[in-house]
Amino acid sequence: MKTAITEMFGIEHPIVQGGMHFVGFAEMAAAVSNAGGLGIITALTQKTPADLANEIARCRDMTDKPIGVNLTFLPSVNPPDYPGYIKAIIEGGVKAVETAGNNPSEVLPVLKDNGIKVIHKCTAVRHALKAQSIGCDAVSVDGFECGGHPGEDDIPNMILLPRAADELEIPFVSSGGMADGRSLVASLAMGAQGMNMGTRFIATKEAPVHENVKQAIVAASELDTRLVMRPLRNTERVLNNAAVERLLEKEKELGKDLKFEDIIAEVAGVYPRIMLDGEMDAGAWSCGMVAGLINDIPTCKELIDGIMEEAETIINERLGGFLKESVAA
Ligand SMILES: Cc1cc2nc3c(=O)[nH]c(=O)nc-3n(C[C@H](O)[C@H](O)[C@H](O)COP(=O)(O)O)c2cc1C
Repeated sequence: MKTAITEMFGIEHPIVQGGMHFVGFAEMAAAVSNAGGLGIITALTQKTPADLANEIARCRDMTDKPIGVNLTFLPSVNPPDYPGYIKAIIEGGVKAVETAGNNPSEVLPVLKDNGIKVIHKCTAVRHALKAQSIGCDAVSVDGFECGGHPGEDDIPNMILLPRAADELEIPFVSSGGMADGRSLVASLAMGAQGMNMGTRFIATKEAPVHENVKQAIVAASELDTRLVMRPLRNTERVLNNAAVERLLEKEKELGKDLKFEDIIAEVAGVYPRIMLDGEMDAGAWSCGMVAGLINDIPTCKELIDGIMEEAETIINERLGGFLKESVAA
């Protein structure tokens, strides 16, 4: 399948693996890229720019296909060394960067000067238009269903994607709730040029996370995620667990008085304990509603090949069949 996204990033299939804290290590990105998608290393999971340089080099040892790096811009008292991370990306020869969070306008010139394609992840059409206006090459349009931060507008992809298609000139991928060939065909039908997946890629053989995390996703239904940190306007969709229930109880009790400090135990520094040690109740961790569609733990190649095969069958047989039948009728 050839789309503006496969052409832009030099990949075989229009499937991107979104940046994921403590999941987007070299092993994850290499497995997705080797399977013909765009695998993405998550910069901020690496403590220092030198660690990111090392992670990019490790990934290069595992694949000669294009890879990307996610740069998440978070509001922070002590901001990470973004210039250092960008230097590591450039010197590592990476040609694709997924930006997320705040407006990436400050880092765009240096990325573009170095021939890097920038895909900005956003949860609102107005943010996508902003990304287009400042020179991003593509956007990843993340609907309300998504694992992680869906923003505060709560617009699901059935509306958000066609709205993006109506407004944008640059290509975009769908993101949030995507799992299979049906997701890909629906995304293409709504105007996307490919799709981005997070949660689905965690439940794969190569995902470098504890087996408990994969099993939790397989066991979860579409009813098992919760939105936390709403009162702080930093909403995150996470898998429900004991820590999340405690957190939601605090949100209810404190209401408008809730401060980040009140929930530190449930959200700060919990990712390594969950993703690496498999301590499933250690805190709140991002997970999409799409968990309800995930029932197996394939290799990335099996997953992506299966998606492409299913998409082709849907386009050629199911959808094409409707047209033939209507002609016959
Ligand atoms: C465990 C986890 C960690 C994530 N961490 C990040 C991150 O650090 N930066 C980022 O831009 N997006 C992050 N995301 C969001 C994903 O890149 C992607 O946009 C999202 O998972 C898409 O929704 P889906 O899970 O329904 O596929 C994370 C998602 C998950 C599930």
